[in-house]
Amino acid sequence: MSDAGLRLPHLDAAHRLQPLVGAYARRRATVPDVALDAPLGGVFWPASFFGLDRVAAFAAARPERQAAVLAECAQGLVGEAYAVEKMGLAYCARLGLLARSAEERMYYAHVGADEATHLGWVTPYLRDPSAAACGPFVALVAGAVEAGERNALVFLMQVVLEGWGLTHFRRLAEGCAAPALAARLRHILRDEAAHHGGGKVLFEAGAVGPGEAAFVRDYLRRFLGMVRAGPQAVVGALERGLGGLTRAERARAFVELDAERHAGERLALLRDLMTGHGLDDLVAGLADGGAFAPLSAADCAALAEAGPPGE
Ligand SMILES: [Fe+2]
Ligand SMILES: [Fe+2]
Repeated sequence: MSDAGLRLPHLDAAHRLQPLVGAYARRRATVPDVALDAPLGGVFWPASFFGLDRVAAFAAARPERQAAVLAECAQGLVGEAYAVEKMGLAYCARLGLLARSAEERMYYAHVGADEATHLGWVTPYLRDPSAAACGPFVALVAGAVEAGERNALVFLMQVVLEGWGLTHFRRLAEGCAAPALAARLRHILRDEAAHHGGGKVLFEAGAVGPGEAAFVRDYLRRFLGMVRAGPQAVVGALERGLGGLTRAERARAFVELDAERHAGERLALLRDLMTGHGLDDLVAGLADGGAFAPLSAADCAALAEAGPPGE
């Protein structure tokens, strides 16, 4: 596979295929209508969810500027979920073709149907699907899905990413101010828990050769590099929503967001997820290279000035 379909376009709302796709999604679960969330004007999570209530530059801004920052932060979260679900579909299609038993192929068809349903639930919340197909994290996941072999992919996508997704989606669902979106996120969380559990059954550490291990190590190192760099997306949204930040304001924002502590907690969680599946030497090697050490707020700010992290 050379293209995971990150930029696969959507059909018009009136296309005859739309009701068929919608009917299959309703077979799996019914969710509240997206119209319920319209009064929020795109502000789906409050400032406190992102820690922005503690940021002086945000607190001093006019309410409409604050709303613009929060709407952009929300688009960042929804866009990331959209891209991951879209990649999840490609992942299931690939793993289905690579299956070594009928049950394994059946399993990936069922999981793929979950991901198709999730994608349908998230899509109406996006202002611009093509904007969601950008960013270093999304590019990293797409690259892995396109190039990885079976066991490397099961580990990266199901053991690590979907395990991470459990904490991530729980936080998103609990903090969400939009009732219909929150209900959808709760359904997604339930399904992702099952997908993560399946990954533990399907992953075979003994079958991971040196080339595949190098692939896993490289992708994990790059993923952890993004987590180490702290809330770059939140500070980026703040910068654009407020029409710019001074160097001092940017540096202060990372301190006020408690960037190092939050990144440290996430990195510890990720290390737990990666440990105990037969790749512990690989994980220890990453730790020795500093992959689980969060950057200081000052280093996060320097990175924000230098451009997007990821490599
Ligand atoms: Fe999903
Ligand atoms: Fe999933």
